[in-house]
Amino acid sequence: MKIIVAGTGFVGLTHAAVCSEYGHEVYAYDIDQQRLSAYRSTERAQIEHYVNEPGLATVIAENHERYLFFVDDLTNIIEGVDAIFLCLPTPPNRDGSSDLSYYFNAVTHIAGLLAKRQDQRRVVLVNKSTVPVGTARQLEQVLKQHNVPNAGVASNPEFLPEGNAVEKSRHPDRVVVGADTDEDFSIMRRIYSQFTNHVRIRYLETTPETAEAIKYVANTLLLTYISFWNGVGARLGESLPNIRMEDLKRGVTSDDRISTWGSYVSNGAGGSCFGKDIQSLIYQLNSVGEATDLLQAVYRINEYQKTYLIDRAIEEAGASFNNKTVALLGLAFKQRTNDMRDASSLQVVEALLARGVREIRAYDPLAIAEAKRFFNPEQNHLFERITYHESPKAALAESDMLFISTDWEEFRGLSRTIEATVQPPYLIIDGRRMIPDFTELVKRGYGYIAVGSPYLAPES
Ligand SMILES: NC(=O)c1ccc[n+]([C@@H]2O[C@H](COP(=O)([O-])OP(=O)(O)OC[C@H]3O[C@@H](n4cnc5c(N)ncnc54)[C@H](O)[C@@H]3O)[C@@H](O)[C@H]2O)c1
Repeated sequence: MKIIVAGTGFVGLTHAAVCSEYGHEVYAYDIDQQRLSAYRSTERAQIEHYVNEPGLATVIAENHERYLFFVDDLTNIIEGVDAIFLCLPTPPNRDGSSDLSYYFNAVTHIAGLLAKRQDQRRVVLVNKSTVPVGTARQLEQVLKQHNVPNAGVASNPEFLPEGNAVEKSRHPDRVVVGADTDEDFSIMRRIYSQFTNHVRIRYLETTPETAEAIKYVANTLLLTYISFWNGVGARLGESLPNIRMEDLKRGVTSDDRISTWGSYVSNGAGGSCFGKDIQSLIYQLNSVGEATDLLQAVYRINEYQKTYLIDRAIEEAGASFNNKTVALLGLAFKQRTNDMRDASSLQVVEALLARGVREIRAYDPLAIAEAKRFFNPEQNHLFERITYHESPKAALAESDMLFISTDWEEFRGLSRTIEATVQPPYLIIDGRRMIPDFTELVKRGYGYIAVGSPYLAPES
């Protein structure tokens, strides 16, 4: 099949690369020239500067200019295309609604080109972007306004988890396709022929509106589960005596009906999707007069988690941040990615700076380049107080306190490094419960405050 993928960010690049592995002729289109040059170079470091996903650079290098082409102009490519996947950004507006301007800019441009095709074979425009319920219908209107002949619309939401995108794109849990006609379902089946009769992958065909809703319900349900553990599990562990959080989790999730995924307590879930998708769903339901109390509580709990440990450190441990040096371990929104969109660390940095810290000594195995973009001193001179370091040890050196904000596995062995690098009195603030042997550190005179546990004052 001849496929265009419009938008080559996290979703579009992964989708284009994995589609090319199945022998489709894939044109990955973007308006960002620098991004395209980096992809065309097929150099891992350059590709990963934009999208850092295990295995992705290899798939691109293997298929580039065989099945996968990076283009900044669709004029000569539009002929004979079977499907156009729309993988454009849909960030939140201030009121929580989805900003569809990138999406409609791209769609209007593409509709203009489609209207002028010579070859008028059936083409499907497929929404992979997360878009409000009803957007496929609006897309249909745009095609009508441009008199595009023989075109259909489909909704095929993306569920990829960052950090495992290639693997999950090859073996998704499910593929959801919402369309209106047999012809369009049939085109989608040919594109996804590796999944339609798969023994494990569920291939679901439904209406475009249902497909759009599935994405929002799935994402907000995941965040609801995370917020349940934070809003209930963490509060129990912090306020009632003698509760072991890890045992609580194991005991509760030793039940086939209860998910182990998400059964952790943390300083909040970040990333480009959860926050914006729940805000968008709240907006969509409010717009039709429905109550959204549950969703609002879920969103509030998640936001609260991001910085509340700083307030606990002040209230429970008597900490003062003014003029202090804080080591900040972890900047990415979760492990195995360099993505910092909506990462908890963004709010942690803001909160620490607002409380007058002298220096933030930051370390992350992948996200330092991203962090420098987010914390640009030209936009806020206080960001000059952030210094970047090549190892946890280097970040810890000469610090007064530690804040752990990302669940990188390498932080699990931190206690030795802490003992070897910084001496008590020293406060450890653990947003991810990454230090399993924290009681040892407390015995040796370190203060420890973690999500899900009461403050442990130094014992010596
Ligand atoms: N990131 C995720 O984990 C994830 C997962 C599932 C779904 N989604 C959804 O997928 C969509 C895309 O997300 P993303 O993270 O890949 O976004 P992204 O910001 O990483 O990438 C978007 C790309 O679109 C390009 N673009 C913007 N306007 C364009 C235009 N007019 N024509 C062509 N290209 C254009 C940008 O240059 C950029 O390369 C969003 O709706 C998002 O909610 C994201």
